[in-house]
Amino acid sequence: MTEPFIRLQNLNKIYKTKDGDVQAVVDVNLDIKKSEFVAVVGPSGCGKTTILKMLAGLVPYTSGEITIDGKRVDKPQTDVGIVFQDAIMLDWRDVLSNVMIQIDIRKMDRAKNLPVAMELLNKVGLTGFEKKKPFELSGGMRQRVSICRALVHDPPLLLMDEPFGALDALTREQISMDIQRLWMDKRKTALHITHSIPEAVLLADRVVVMSPRPGRIVEIIDIDLPRPRRLDKLPPRFNDYAERIRDIFKSAGVLAMD
Ligand SMILES: Nc1ncnc2c1ncn2[C@@H]1O[C@H](COP(=O)(O)OP(=O)(O)OP(=O)(O)O)[C@@H](O)[C@H]1O
Ligand SMILES: [Mg+2]
Repeated sequence: MTEPFIRLQNLNKIYKTKDGDVQAVVDVNLDIKKSEFVAVVGPSGCGKTTILKMLAGLVPYTSGEITIDGKRVDKPQTDVGIVFQDAIMLDWRDVLSNVMIQIDIRKMDRAKNLPVAMELLNKVGLTGFEKKKPFELSGGMRQRVSICRALVHDPPLLLMDEPFGALDALTREQISMDIQRLWMDKRKTALHITHSIPEAVLLADRVVVMSPRPGRIVEIIDIDLPRPRRLDKLPPRFNDYAERIRDIFKSAGVLAMD
């Protein structure tokens, strides 16, 4: 069998704080294949961001191992694209320059990559906004710019930490469609963290369901639905998947329905 692209093995994270140890993540095991789209859902504080940061090499793990493409993650990874919850942008740079920042810091070829940035902006409906400054954009537009910025240097891995968390429902739906389109086009391996069960089912090949802190994987559900998945034409099976995930949370005491 070929090695998975990403492998999390017996992963544990304990944060040392002045009030004692905080066990954030317990014994997480997860393999992700190349080009797979995996969503992680779990209650607040269960360690989702911690897992993403450990994978990006931004936070050290306490025990276990993470490998990307067979190599142990033990320092910040440069070959990833990350979209955080808040679209952090440089206010003095326009939209295009904010996307191009990944090219600039890596000292990649500007002339060659400008069309790549323009094409990405076009794919998320931002053609014509290249010269706008961040303050001239809506929250949804800013988040779209961050998605382009995470992809412009063509990383094999895209990490998204609740990228739509601060957005209204309609914008979330629209950007979900943008992400689906980009993913179908580029087939990057993607790890997408979200609070939203429907969003996870809509986008993912597999949904990882986590327990409350200390976070463990409770179940991994294969989402066997054809793509492109359309919000206005969701098959009944879509709701079955969402219901199944809700049931897991209900039995873990995370969701109270009455
Ligand atoms: N730098 C840190 N130092 C100490 N404890 C931390 C640190 N970062 C996170 N934690 C703790 O680890 C646990 C997991 O946090 P994490 O941010 O990974 O959760 P999360 O699942 O992303 O939550 P949310 O859905 O609210 O974003 C929490 O109890 C949090 O208080
Ligand atoms: Mg988080």
